[in-house]
Amino acid sequence: MEEHVEKEFITQMQGEYSETAINHARNPHNVGNIPKCDGFAQATGICGDTLAIWLRVKDGRIALASFWTDGCGASLACGSITTVLAKDRTIEEAMEIDQNTILEALGGLPEDHVHCAELAAETLDAAIKDYIQLAKFPWKRDYMNNK
Ligand code: FES
Repeated sequence: MEEHVEKEFITQMQGEYSETAINHARNPHNVGNIPKCDGFAQATGICGDTLAIWLRVKDGRIALASFWTDGCGASLACGSITTVLAKDRTIEEAMEIDQNTILEALGGLPEDHVHCAELAAETLDAAIKDYIQLAKFPWKRDYMNNK
């Protein structure tokens, strides 16, 4: 991000967002895809922004989680914290991560950006369901990865 754009972005966030949310928006963790992933989902929220999540699962535990979004600063913070929260959890534990878990971990979001947390939670849920589905039919994953 260019320096003057980043300054403006941070100024807009200050006062309305927690320090944790600002830090995750400025320096998001786990950005980008995971090649040959075990689970993937992409969803578009009510605002029209899109968020994608990739999962790598080993022995029933999320070994890697990553995300991408074309959305707002809050969606960057939500995607980032969601991947941090999901990593190292079992599939069952990760399924418990919902909008409130994300909001709590970020120290809250302004009311008009709560839906960004909902988008991240829904995308994670869909990526986990994709993993569960692909685990039942491993040939599908091999097919997808070789396309
Ligand atoms: Fe669209 Fe935040 S994800 S406004």
